[in-house]
Amino acid sequence: MNRPLLPSKHVPAVRISGTPATFHVKSFGCQMNVYDGERMAEMLGAQGMTAATGADSADLVVLNTCHIREKAAEKVYSDIGRLRREDGTRPMIAVAGCVAQAEGSEISRRAPSVDIVVGPQAYHNLPALIGKAVRGEVALDTDMPAASKFGSLPDRPKQPRPMAFLTIQEGCDKFCTYCVVPYTRGAEISRPWSAILDEAQALVDGGVREITLLGQNVNAWQGTDPAGRTQGFDGLIRALAALPDLARIRYTTSHPNDMTEGLIAAHAEVPKLMPFLHLPVQSGSDRILKAMNRNHSVESYLAILEKVRAARPDIALSGDFIVGFPGETDADFEATMALVRDVGYAMAYSFKYSARPGTPAADMADHIPATVMDARLQRLQAQLNADQIAFNSRAVGQCVPILLEREGRYPGQRIGKTPWLQSVHVTAPDYALGDMIDVDITATGPNSLAGDLKKRIAA
Ligand code: SAH
Ligand code: SF4
Ligand code: F3S
Repeated sequence: MNRPLLPSKHVPAVRISGTPATFHVKSFGCQMNVYDGERMAEMLGAQGMTAATGADSADLVVLNTCHIREKAAEKVYSDIGRLRREDGTRPMIAVAGCVAQAEGSEISRRAPSVDIVVGPQAYHNLPALIGKAVRGEVALDTDMPAASKFGSLPDRPKQPRPMAFLTIQEGCDKFCTYCVVPYTRGAEISRPWSAILDEAQALVDGGVREITLLGQNVNAWQGTDPAGRTQGFDGLIRALAALPDLARIRYTTSHPNDMTEGLIAAHAEVPKLMPFLHLPVQSGSDRILKAMNRNHSVESYLAILEKVRAARPDIALSGDFIVGFPGETDADFEATMALVRDVGYAMAYSFKYSARPGTPAADMADHIPATVMDARLQRLQAQLNADQIAFNSRAVGQCVPILLEREGRYPGQRIGKTPWLQSVHVTAPDYALGDMIDVDITATGPNSLAGDLKKRIAA
């Protein structure tokens, strides 16, 4: 169902001669985008379309995009160009995700070969938009409706892996001055208790043993249980932990200001809640945190970590950092380095500040030169990498429970995760994905561990 590539920017969209039979969804950005991509694929599958082996052979390609930094947002345009095939045809192209929300109809102006633009709160309308595109009509939907899209999506089918993502909260009301998420994802909403428990049960029924709860501020989740009691995120975790066949629960991403006493206590009391916390701090300087509108200080952040470590001494900590925020001095950056050394992260993500149109920080004074940002990022990443290697090497000699989640490269090799989110390669030909096994860790690298099978752990 390929059709000729449009030769110039100003040619109007051509009629598409039939409904696409195959699709490929490519997701960029955060895990919530990965989740959305999976739900779109499941929805297209439920419409009778089949998954293609890749973008090259698909009738419809969905680029599920990320707007968080300039590089990520610009990538979509080179990706669109790359969808052109050797015979001069191209697939039907849908741009979904946060670039779709932020740029809307501007996308089709810049890239006329785009047939569909659909925002992250409107992708349940993708089948209707495909219909419009087939008829040659403008297919754009970036509405942020009051009603949630989730009710219009098909139930979760059987999953290919024993672990799955489950979005429970969306949007953000925090308005950090550098960040586009409050604009691309809209206001903070929590999905209802029963919708989450039903989806979790469906995933578990389909073979899932580990669920990662997702939200831009996942720990801000609030809801009402069937008895009419108001519940926070920790109450939801406790209810999910009661599902018999669910072995592990994780969550990401959390904001320090929503780290409640109840959630910290859950880390001590709920064995299925894994000892891993991704708690971004962004900077180690109070002056910069204030300019970022983070609404917490270095001291209050460290106080939370101390409480979490008291509740769960083996917890692995992770974070996000931005270097080169406008006005960041050498002293501010040294404060970030000091915080990193102080905490000892098991892993972390670090980024150069990227000015985003429409955000308050983009208009601030004293933008930092690229060379300074590069040097700071290099130093920060060297420290974070060293800390990650140190954390991983402490696992050597330990016996740890691994949940097997995918096949390795060699016959009989499986890859699973420790409770602390480290990948472990192990030869375990007699065990299936979804099995939990004890593994003696024998070797370590920066990104994964190796181990010897000890025994199966009773399910
Ligand atoms: N809601 C989450 C994460 C959102 S985006 C949170 O608040 O922690 C993921 C990460 O991208 C952020 O934590 C931040 O470190 C980074 N980020 C966001 N906007 C950015 C920008 N304009 N430039 C560079 N990094 C950015
Ligand atoms: Fe962005 Fe801040 Fe919201 Fe995280 S808390 S999504 S960084 S505005
Ligand atoms: Fe990117 Fe949107 Fe996620 S901007 S990080 S895909 S919320």
